[in-house]
Amino acid sequence: MMKLSPDTSRRGFLTLVAAAALLAGCKPSGGSGSGGDAAGGGASTIVVGEFASLTGTEATFGKSSHEGTLLAIEELNKAGGLLGKQFSLITEDNRSTAGESVTIVKKFISRDHVVAVLGEVASGRSMEAAPVCQQAGIPMVSPSSTNPKVTEIGDYIFRVCFIDPFQGKLLADFATKTLKAKKVALLSDVSSAYSDGLGRFFREGFTAGGGEIISEQKYTSKDKDFKAQLTAIKAASPDAIFVPGYYTEAGLIVAQARQLGITLPIFGGDGWEAPELIQIAGGEALANTYYSTHYSPESSDARVQTFVKAFQARFNGETPDAMAALGYDSAMVLADAMKRAGTTDGAKVRDALAATKDYPCVTGKTTLDAARNASKAAVIITVKDGKFKYLETIQP
Ligand code: PHE
Repeated sequence: MMKLSPDTSRRGFLTLVAAAALLAGCKPSGGSGSGGDAAGGGASTIVVGEFASLTGTEATFGKSSHEGTLLAIEELNKAGGLLGKQFSLITEDNRSTAGESVTIVKKFISRDHVVAVLGEVASGRSMEAAPVCQQAGIPMVSPSSTNPKVTEIGDYIFRVCFIDPFQGKLLADFATKTLKAKKVALLSDVSSAYSDGLGRFFREGFTAGGGEIISEQKYTSKDKDFKAQLTAIKAASPDAIFVPGYYTEAGLIVAQARQLGITLPIFGGDGWEAPELIQIAGGEALANTYYSTHYSPESSDARVQTFVKAFQARFNGETPDAMAALGYDSAMVLADAMKRAGTTDGAKVRDALAATKDYPCVTGKTTLDAARNASKAAVIITVKDGKFKYLETIQP
């Protein structure tokens, strides 16, 4: 087991308690040390722990997901809470860094006595924290981690989004049918479970449909220079380039590809979704790029529009992205399970989560299957004149 000094473990610490006014008599855990403060509020409120990448390379994932989650918790509290109690949400930042999430979730359980955990966006970090929740019998709901391994960790681990075998296959179909690509170059992040997995699921789908992966290149998270890989890709002359990665590197890759005179279509998965993608790559470089994701705020669905309006009213007119929508959904699905269970007892909430059927989420009706995953439609987004634009919806 890894040992961290209290100093290390508290670096980047952030605690946010929803509806703080309702916490009279309950000490916000932000001021407490890491050992056994029993005043976690377990008795007077329903304490839920959220771990998120609020800073670092995937900062917008954490920020968006957290805002969606917070909005849901605030709405639930406004509607009277649950089981005669209000919810309190404790949020901690893992700084987009490996190793932090385990420490955070351990503290949630031992110090804050959370009854459930929400998180994370990135599959790798969900996979770090899930064994801790599983062992403690604390249900964990990931809003948007798509790697299949996340929920395979155990029967207390759920997600409210689709998984990458589906996303990889739909991107393979998109490459074949829409981009008319026969030869694709693959550039994936070896340090990310998500990127590596999505790359493999894409390859399976694409080659099964008669396509060929003509060049396969790798990078590592936080790399800044992709010219060597892109030069090799250019020499292989593919019809399109698939970049299953997160927005920081994907943005640089697109920009550098265009600098090298590569005008080919470049596409990715949900990891591309962030306003920063446009800032990093530039709107012009992003012409002829595409990515798949979980939802579009442009949808005319009444549930989507109600959510978009509530989110904009709460967060300075900001338009919620997929992480925000899924963060919101994760809290609502958890609360619905607690309501049906009639208790916050871990085992009973787990059973109720497993029985989730047709729950009306912002991102579509949610049924959790035997593998604790959801099956939902995906959307394809393109970038037009420096703005994200909805292209099509793909049903599971
Ligand atoms: N699906 C990604 C992962 O599993 C995370 C992600 C979700 C990124 C939604 C953007 C939008 O790592």
